[in-house]
Amino acid sequence: MISTNLHAAFNRQINAELWSAYLYLSMSMDAQDKGYPGIAQWFFIQWKEEQQHAEKFARHLTDRMSKVYLEELDGVKQEWSSPMEMFQDASAHERKVTKLIYQLMDLAISDKDYASVSFLQWFVDEQVEEEKSVDDIITILEQIDDNPDAMLSIDHELGKREL
Ligand code: FEO
Repeated sequence: MISTNLHAAFNRQINAELWSAYLYLSMSMDAQDKGYPGIAQWFFIQWKEEQQHAEKFARHLTDRMSKVYLEELDGVKQEWSSPMEMFQDASAHERKVTKLIYQLMDLAISDKDYASVSFLQWFVDEQVEEEKSVDDIITILEQIDDNPDAMLSIDHELGKREL
């Protein structure tokens, strides 16, 4: 059985993952609105990935006979001044999520809940990937320095992302 503390923390993480999904859907819609269909597609896939993360946490709780309690979602930002600002926000957000995952891992270890430790390891590895994919795009955006043709080409490349 999952401890009361860890149970509450897992529930909060479901909310955090769903909020991440909501944030990335907002980025996708803003990118679409501003004429970046490829970036919109990239964040649309990210929206779906975050929903899968929330589902994984929910499944872990139900597999351990612990009820999922869904909390209210806070609102998200709706407008970004540029693709760079969008990806910088995504990078900062993923770093916060990594800290949340590490806190969950600390709690699972202190509870000697090795099933949760094993479950959380996937998220520890996933966060390395999550941070890297966003940071790689920021590096590319820094290199093109707002060149419109290069931006078009990057938008096209990012639009190839699939789930
Ligand atoms: Fe669910 Fe982007 O971390």
